[in-house]
Amino acid sequence: METVQKNLETAIAKAAKIIRDGGLVAFPTETVYGLGANALNPVAVAKIFELKERPSFDPLIVHIASFDQLDDLVENVSDAVKLLADKFWPGPLTFVLPKTNKVPEIVTSGLATVGVRMPDNPIALELIRKAGCPIAAPSANKFGRISPTTAMHVKKQLPNVDCIIDGGKTSVGIESTIVFVEGDTCTLLRAGKITIEDIRESLPNNFKVIQHVSGEAISPGLLKSHYSPTKTLRILNSKTETLPEGSGLIVHEQNHILKAFAHKTIVTSPNMDYHQIAANLFSALHTMEDDPEITQIFIQPVEETGLGLALMDRINKAAHQYQK
Ligand code: TXA
Ligand code: MG
Repeated sequence: METVQKNLETAIAKAAKIIRDGGLVAFPTETVYGLGANALNPVAVAKIFELKERPSFDPLIVHIASFDQLDDLVENVSDAVKLLADKFWPGPLTFVLPKTNKVPEIVTSGLATVGVRMPDNPIALELIRKAGCPIAAPSANKFGRISPTTAMHVKKQLPNVDCIIDGGKTSVGIESTIVFVEGDTCTLLRAGKITIEDIRESLPNNFKVIQHVSGEAISPGLLKSHYSPTKTLRILNSKTETLPEGSGLIVHEQNHILKAFAHKTIVTSPNMDYHQIAANLFSALHTMEDDPEITQIFIQPVEETGLGLALMDRINKAAHQYQK
C-alpha cells in the first residue's frame, strides 16, 4: 500500500483537525478532488452546499476508509453489494444504500438512501482515518461547472475553501460509477471507470444489470447540464468541419486532421485510449476555459462502449447548455 510523505502527513493532520472542527477541506481522491466535511455534522455539511452554490436537492457521497464505518451509515448491506465492495473497494464505485438515522438529512437531500464509497487514494484514506469520521464530499467545483483534477482547478473555483491538500493530478479523472442494488437488479446511476460490463461480470448470473433511464427520480443529481466550461463547447460532427477563429480543439488521437486549423489543440490521448482520455478530459476543458485567446471549444466524441459511456456522459453534459 502507498504511504504519504512526511510534509503531506503534517498537511493531512491539519486538514483532519479542520474537519473535526466543522470546517471544509478540499482533498484528492483517485477520481476528482472532493470538497469534504464531517458527514455526521449537518452544520459543516451545510457549508459545502453554500460554498459550491449547490442546490439542496442534490445529495452528497459519503467517503469511508474502512468497512466497519459502514455500520453507522447504512441499515443493511446485501450480499451482492458485499461482493462488489470486496472486489472494487477502495476504488471508484459508489453504492446507494438505505441510510441509518445517524446520517443527517442534509447529506442525502432528504432521501432514505445514502451514497457511500471508499476512495483509492492514500491521502483521502489517511484524512478520513485522522479525522475519525466519515467525510461527505461532492466534487470540489462550483455547481454545474468543470470538475477539478488538480489542486489549481479547485483554487480557481473555490478560492475561499479553508484548506486544499495538494496531491497532484488525480489518476482516474472522472467521477465514480454509482450503482443502486435492489433485490436481483443492479441499476447504474452514473457511468464511471468501473463499467456496466465490469459489474455484470462480478455478479451472479441471475442478476440484471441495467442502465438508469434518465427522467426517473431515483438520482436527483443526474442533471442534463453539468461539468460546463464558461465558453461555448461543441461536439465535433465530423473530421472535416471548419473551425472558426479562436477555436480550441480537444481531440483523442494524434493525427486528427482538424488539428492544423485550431488556435490551440489538446490531444488527450495519442491513440483513443479511453483511460487516458478520462484522466485528461476535465483538465483539457480547464486549460481551454483559462486561455483568453480561446473563444469556443470543440471536442471530438468517442464511442459509447465500455468507459466511452462515462466519457460521453461527461462530454454531452458539458456541451448541453451550448447546443443549438
Ligand atoms: O468520484 C466521485 O464520486 C467524487 C469524489 C469526490 O468522490 N464525488 C462526486 O460527488 O462526484 P458529486 O457530488 O459531484 O456527485 C454525487 C452524485 C449526486 O449528484 C447524485 O447524482 C448521486 O451522487 N447521489 C448521491 N447520493 C445519492 C442517493 N442517495 N441517491 C441517488 N443518487 C445519489
Ligand atoms: Mg460533481
